[in-house]
Amino acid sequence: MRSVMSERNNKLALLGGQPAVTGEQKELFHWPIITKRHEEAVLEVLRSGSMSALGVTTEFEEKYAKNLGRKYGLASPNGTASILSGLYGLGVGVGDEVIAPSYTYWASVMQIYNLGATPVFADIDPESLSMDPSDIEHRITPRTKALVVVHLGGYPADMDAIMDIAKRHRIKVLEDCSHAHGALYKGREVGTFGEAAAFSLMSVKSFAIGEGGMLFTDDRRIYERAIMFGHYRKHGKIKLEELKKYIGVPLGGAKNRLNQMSSAIGLVHLEMYPEWMAGIDKAMNYFCDELEGTPGIRPIRPPKGSGSTKGGWYFPLFKYLPEEMEGLSLTRFSDAVKAEGTTCNPGAYSPLHLHPAFTELDIYGHGKPTRIAHYRGDDPDLLLKQTLPVTENMNPFVFEVPWFKHFQKKEIDQHILAYRKVVENHQELLADDDKEKDKEIGSFSSAFSKDDL
Ligand SMILES: Cc1ncc(COP(=O)(O)O)c(C=O)c1O
Repeated sequence: MRSVMSERNNKLALLGGQPAVTGEQKELFHWPIITKRHEEAVLEVLRSGSMSALGVTTEFEEKYAKNLGRKYGLASPNGTASILSGLYGLGVGVGDEVIAPSYTYWASVMQIYNLGATPVFADIDPESLSMDPSDIEHRITPRTKALVVVHLGGYPADMDAIMDIAKRHRIKVLEDCSHAHGALYKGREVGTFGEAAAFSLMSVKSFAIGEGGMLFTDDRRIYERAIMFGHYRKHGKIKLEELKKYIGVPLGGAKNRLNQMSSAIGLVHLEMYPEWMAGIDKAMNYFCDELEGTPGIRPIRPPKGSGSTKGGWYFPLFKYLPEEMEGLSLTRFSDAVKAEGTTCNPGAYSPLHLHPAFTELDIYGHGKPTRIAHYRGDDPDLLLKQTLPVTENMNPFVFEVPWFKHFQKKEIDQHILAYRKVVENHQELLADDDKEKDKEIGSFSSAFSKDDL
């Protein structure tokens, strides 16, 4: 490791030294990017008074689907709605089981309840943090209808193995690509593997249009069922006989029309995103390359030369290796790194399967926990007590790093220095280390900001 001693004041900021990161660095993190073209596109919608119409949104759906190489795109006001209507599209219903990760944002999973189905959780791979293919097959029963796969923190899940399992067992796959816009798995874009794929497009995501979600599929039946669920104004598109007689009311009681101002932003984004993404990718890979080999920390990214990439790098994560830091807790490490002026948020997600909404709560008044309200398997109690060793123990070993939006070497170098400085001086942090604090790491949301409160 290159010594930082000579580079600047080496006293840790947490212990009274100068922070490694100076200046505001606003542009490095400014997001989403809104250009004159975005403003004009939104103004056009505003001036036409057509915020609730469909034309701009239809154009956005068609162009996005074409870019991704899928037949159908269906926009909704958020990714949560896209996942719900996507699951309905796949035919998920009462008594079905859906295998999903627990180490994710709740919106990958909660909707399974709305359809009367049961979430069955699978563990994650400790290197990628996405679903572990070797923990899926033994959870499959004759009632398993679908798999929700999340490309967590932009890291593409192992889609060859997952699709192979799904095909052999005739299970449908919904990819949750909310963290992974533009990410590649072995050279192929995520969102093109599963029978359906959903993306969140809200403001903090890498493809950010304000609020919005997209569902993609090549299957006409999935598309039409998703339309029937929450897009009554699109019922004119329905061709399937089995659905035609229900035209007129949304079967999910949902109204999922996307505001056209967001669609207008999305249309401009489609043209600009590849260039933005390349800038993010260059910046993040530079940051990771420079820190690769630094004791105690390791970038989480697909191996070079694998053809897999992290796209827009939403929610970039590193591994923490306390055994290389004399057992220093992640909490203490991250406090010290943050004091240097950069991002270092300990943990990723709190395990959903341990949340009372999944272990005990009767949300809809079934007289038993919603998790098992419609469960048809032999041992509902076993399901409520599910354990997932990797998921449950992951948080003290993973942290979020800064998400650079541009390759600005000079500024990024300061963030690299911040990390190196703390690693080099970690012994000074051992004295006041309270390891118990690592037990509190975790959150059910990665996307809270002060504005939410
Ligand atoms: C993995 C994942 N899935 C789904 C969603 C839901 O998207 P939205 O917030 O647009 O409803 C999010 C949002 O943060 C997410 O992180």
